[in-house]
Amino acid sequence: MTDSVRWGILGAGGIAATVGAEIVASDGNQVVAVGARDLDRATALADRLGAARSYGSYAELAADPDVDVVYIATTHGQHHEQALLCLGAGKPILVEKAFTLNAREAREVIAEARRRQLFCMEAMWMRLNPLIRTAQDVARSGRIGDVVSVRSDLSARFEFDPKHRLFDLGVGGGALLDIGVYSATFAWLFLGRPDTVQVTGALAPTGADATVALQWGYADGRFAQIASTTLGANPLSGLIAGTKGWISVQGPMARPASITIHDPDGDEVLPDPLTGAGYRPEVAEVARCLRSGELESPLVPLDETLAILEVFDDVRARLGVRYPADQE
Ligand SMILES: NC(=O)c1ccc[n+]([C@@H]2O[C@H](COP(=O)([O-])OP(=O)(O)OC[C@H]3O[C@@H](n4cnc5c(N)ncnc54)[C@H](OP(=O)(O)O)[C@@H]3O)[C@@H](O)[C@H]2O)c1
Repeated sequence: MTDSVRWGILGAGGIAATVGAEIVASDGNQVVAVGARDLDRATALADRLGAARSYGSYAELAADPDVDVVYIATTHGQHHEQALLCLGAGKPILVEKAFTLNAREAREVIAEARRRQLFCMEAMWMRLNPLIRTAQDVARSGRIGDVVSVRSDLSARFEFDPKHRLFDLGVGGGALLDIGVYSATFAWLFLGRPDTVQVTGALAPTGADATVALQWGYADGRFAQIASTTLGANPLSGLIAGTKGWISVQGPMARPASITIHDPDGDEVLPDPLTGAGYRPEVAEVARCLRSGELESPLVPLDETLAILEVFDDVRARLGVRYPADQE
């Protein structure tokens, strides 16, 4: 690796452009190549990001010897195949959320990364957000007492369009994998794997889940209420309640505007310290791991990425949401 981490971006859609700009804005990181299914789209994004090379196929990007790490920024249904393609070419990978469609696919990608001794991480940027990390530190410190419950909701209004990635089962559509992965991961950060899971929800006409609401239970009485819907936005976000206080999240939990810590001494409000679109801590963590030779980020553990997808497999089965890849 040169002084600078040289990124390749796989896919030239919306998040590829947003995170690509954040990579370019991060010291010690550059985008050197973009690969897309269409060369013109790849070239247009490469030009915007100052990348020297563009490719009209993902395989060419994966084979580029001057790429240190590939950011896989495509739809959920494509992640498994593309992750294995990049790992097969010897490339470390950052894979957009949701990491894969199901736990089987995640197990295969994780096993391959470990077998090949290559860095691999889900792009769950919420876990690297400084306010979310502070909330975790505060919860662990005992300042709000023992954590009793978590509420989390990330919802938005998406007009139904059977071809949109949110609703198209062929590319891994559905509220759970797209936005529910944030609200579920948020609860997981403070409570861990649930002992019991209750599920309710509703499907879009394509069979993708439009609404998912979960109640997680724990043998010791703790619980989480988790929701995500594509039917409408709401101002709820995250709340961690303890025996002596609580922490509330204002704004979207992946990039909060602020958090409020309420303890017996009163309220402390911590504002968002980040500039840019909020992805720079994620870029920095990948670069840190690559430079230090760490193959997995301790802040975004692959085992938890997998465990959450195991819970999701069960949730989707109960909702009746099946992807073509579930049959394999
Ligand atoms: N971290 C975040 O804040 C955030 C925000 C939004 C989305 N995401 C995640 O990012 C990923 C992409 O979302 P997006 O909003 O960027 O979507 P998008 O704008 O619709 O782009 C979809 C991308 O998927 C690629 N793709 C590959 N095979 C495809 C197929 N068979 N059908 C459709 N697209 C295909 C396209 O690649 P080509 O360019 O090669 O055509 C395109 O780059 C998803 O995993 C999503 O959950 C993350």
